[in-house]
Amino acid sequence: MTQAAVLSAADVLPVGPGEPVFALRGVGYRYAGRQPALNDVNLTIWPGERVVLLGANGSGKSTLLKLLDGIVGPTQGTIRALGLDIAAVASGEDGFHFHREVGLVFQDPDIQLFSATVLDDVAFGPLQLGLSRGEVKQRCDEAMAEMGIAHLADRAPFELSGGEKKRAAIASVLSLRPDVVLLDEPTASLDPRTKWVLVDLVQRLAAAGRTLVVATHELDIVPLIADRVVVLSEEGRVVADGAPAAILADRDLLVRANLIHEHLHEHGVVEHSHPHDDAAGHHDEAGVGRDALSAAGGGRLQ
Ligand SMILES: Nc1ncnc2c1ncn2[C@@H]1O[C@H](COP(=O)(O)OP(=O)(O)O)[C@@H](O)[C@H]1O
Ligand SMILES: [Mg+2]
Repeated sequence: MTQAAVLSAADVLPVGPGEPVFALRGVGYRYAGRQPALNDVNLTIWPGERVVLLGANGSGKSTLLKLLDGIVGPTQGTIRALGLDIAAVASGEDGFHFHREVGLVFQDPDIQLFSATVLDDVAFGPLQLGLSRGEVKQRCDEAMAEMGIAHLADRAPFELSGGEKKRAAIASVLSLRPDVVLLDEPTASLDPRTKWVLVDLVQRLAAAGRTLVVATHELDIVPLIADRVVVLSEEGRVVADGAPAAILADRDLLVRANLIHEHLHEHGVVEHSHPHDDAAGHHDEAGVGRDALSAAGGGRLQ
């Protein structure tokens, strides 16, 4: 079998027709003794959607992904996920079934990699599922081939580069063949080539019918990986939910959410099709309306 199996759509998502993957109603989360990290989040995610959670640092993206993965339950409201109550999953019921279907790739690969070798980490999940040795090996080979890390199988995770660790962490989730993949800041602090590997992976997982929820604050990858964008404010509220082009064109929204700063030139959002000696002194920016630009004083953005 080839690596394609990791991405194949063969496993049918265990949700009934017309049922969402995630349904969040009035969800809040408060860490002990802190201000609420999430407030009144209402969100429905459907099978096969590619959703980007966009928000500044501290806006609650990682907290929301931990809730979707059933690591913690909401302190307010309810979350149904794959027909299960997340509060029950978080308290240990149904966790086994749930974690076959939903996999979270943490932002920090050091949290995900705890074994003596990369192979041991990638095999950990499938071994937990009680699969045969042959099946475990096949899944590991596929997942490592998919992430281009077959040659690192016997290496100790701690001696890998940041990008290699990231790919190993993702392979350790792919080996479970989850239908729902949650990725926390997958491209943060990666070199451009590794960043592209991850963008490409997201695209292929989506093409294989997986449901994807990706947290990021990097605007440049959004049009490549999303068909829907949910924006979190710095208070942990959903302040926008819509098509990527519309969200990325809403400069005021992005400034309010602290995703761009009006005095900083954002190379991420804009396509540089402009000549810098443009007489009008402004960019010809894809995705950012001229009106919004002139209102912000386009020339200043050079
Ligand atoms: N383990 C924790 N204990 C206490 N507060 C936390 C913890 N993790 C996150 N927070 C707080 O919750 C808020 C949201 O954090 P987080 O979900 O990590 O946001 P993001 O991923 O968008 O940067 C922040 O104010 C953060 O300081
Ligand atoms: Mg985070």
